[in-house]
Amino acid sequence: MAKLSSIISVAFYSNTMAATVDIGGNIAEDASPFAVGNDRTITLEEVSWHDHAKDCWIVVYDRVYDVTEFLEEHPGGSDILLEYAGREASVAFRGSGHSAQALRALDRFFIGELPLHERIFRKPGGYRLSDLPE
Ligand code: HEM
Repeated sequence: MAKLSSIISVAFYSNTMAATVDIGGNIAEDASPFAVGNDRTITLEEVSWHDHAKDCWIVVYDRVYDVTEFLEEHPGGSDILLEYAGREASVAFRGSGHSAQALRALDRFFIGELPLHERIFRKPGGYRLSDLPE
């Protein structure tokens, strides 16, 4: 698949999902009815490149967050966030009983969403959580 920067935003929709066509005619499962605004699609592989204290991305509920600047601010400490650097952290995030305020705090660090085929929650028939944020 071509780099997302080269993707022309020609989107078409089917019953269950939307797709974006890049210059080479390849189809990416990136723009779904669950996508928000002008966000980027970021794969788990790309997330995995950002796995250390100077460049730390994590995934919570299919959304990608750059928490590099938050490491020292995190009330739960930087070490625990670094354990999930470059990785999926939804279960850990949920399991540590974060407040609604913590959920809202995620927005500050939002940089993109996983492609549809890599999502667990935000996809048709995805795993439903009562408190999954919009
Ligand atoms: C961008 C992602 C995250 C944000 C914005 C965030 C935010 C917060 C906030 C605001 C608190 C204070 C308590 C509350 O309001 O719930 C907190 C506490 C905590 N967080 Fe996170 N958190 C994030 C990711 C994580 C992850 C991935 C873990 C992994 C287990 C984690 C573990 C904890 C723990 C254990 C505490 C409790 C600290 C204590 O009470 O001593 N957090 N977090």
